[in-house]
Amino acid sequence: MADILDDIQTIKEEFARDAEGIGSPDSLEELRIKYLGRKGFIPSCFKRLNEVDADKKPLVGSELNILKKFAEDKLAELSRQTAAKGETAKKFDASLPGFRRFFGKKHPLTKVMNELVSIFSSMGFEVVEGPEIETDYYNFEALNIPENHPAKNIQDTFYLNNGMLLRTHTSPVQVRVMEKRKPPIRIIAPGRVFRKDTPDATHTPVFHQIEGLYVDKGVTLAELKGVILAFAKRLFGEDMEIRFRPGYFPFTEPSVEYDFLCMFCKGKGCRVCKNTGWVEISGAGMVNPAVFRYVDINPEIYTGYAFGMGIDRIAMFKYQINDIRLFFENDIRFLEQF
Ligand code: PHE
Repeated sequence: MADILDDIQTIKEEFARDAEGIGSPDSLEELRIKYLGRKGFIPSCFKRLNEVDADKKPLVGSELNILKKFAEDKLAELSRQTAAKGETAKKFDASLPGFRRFFGKKHPLTKVMNELVSIFSSMGFEVVEGPEIETDYYNFEALNIPENHPAKNIQDTFYLNNGMLLRTHTSPVQVRVMEKRKPPIRIIAPGRVFRKDTPDATHTPVFHQIEGLYVDKGVTLAELKGVILAFAKRLFGEDMEIRFRPGYFPFTEPSVEYDFLCMFCKGKGCRVCKNTGWVEISGAGMVNPAVFRYVDINPEIYTGYAFGMGIDRIAMFKYQINDIRLFFENDIRFLEQF
């Protein structure tokens, strides 16, 4: 009689040990058959109940029922666990391609703008910014472009209902800075500008410029040329060359338009430079004394140079992009390449 109670204890311990290693539905079924199947350990014990003395039967019977319940509960729990594991196993297919993590990138114009800013900063220029919505005074009048001046025509812009306008160039920042500070002034002003242009491969109604301005005693046109040449070499390499052509801007006198050696053919002549060997970058010149008078700087004492630079154009040359509109279409296939 003691035997059967010992056996019940042993079966319970062995069952618990066997249950530890269950990982699959198959091994779980084996475990069920071994202990609860028709010829399993637990039903066999129930059969031996006949041999037990009548007075001990209730005790042995209840121990057996406890063991059976214990085994059934454990099997049910294991069944839930292996089922759950089976589900995740189904959901996770290691042979499928993984999820590619998407990293953002800087827009090519931002990259070029940052590069230009860092070159000029290293030359001692300080970065300042001005508003994109301007008054007629800063965008035109104080830059010596009076009402009805023809220069206003090629810089036609968007006028707001309140009399303000979208700036057509970064030059108004020159006036804003000179108004507040006294020379020496050495600044660059990067930013977005607007013109009423019909979009094509080289024009968009919004584009970007960097303005440069240096005002001090004895500043010369030769220094202007030196700075632009040094800048061009830093950006495109030591064999870069520049050239000045006579130009006209109401706010500089004398004025030049300046070109870089064509970076595609190195001056030999190609489609990009229309066989001239040079590509136009922007305008520059010596600050017109008329502008100095608007900001109360004495042109008898100070001179200065100013230059503009088209960031979009430079980015097109740098990355060999043949259509400026690509910068503003936000096509991820284009933007991902930089
Ligand atoms: N603001 C002029 C333009 O946008 C360029 C320029 C800047 C010319 C400074 C001379 C001096 O065309």
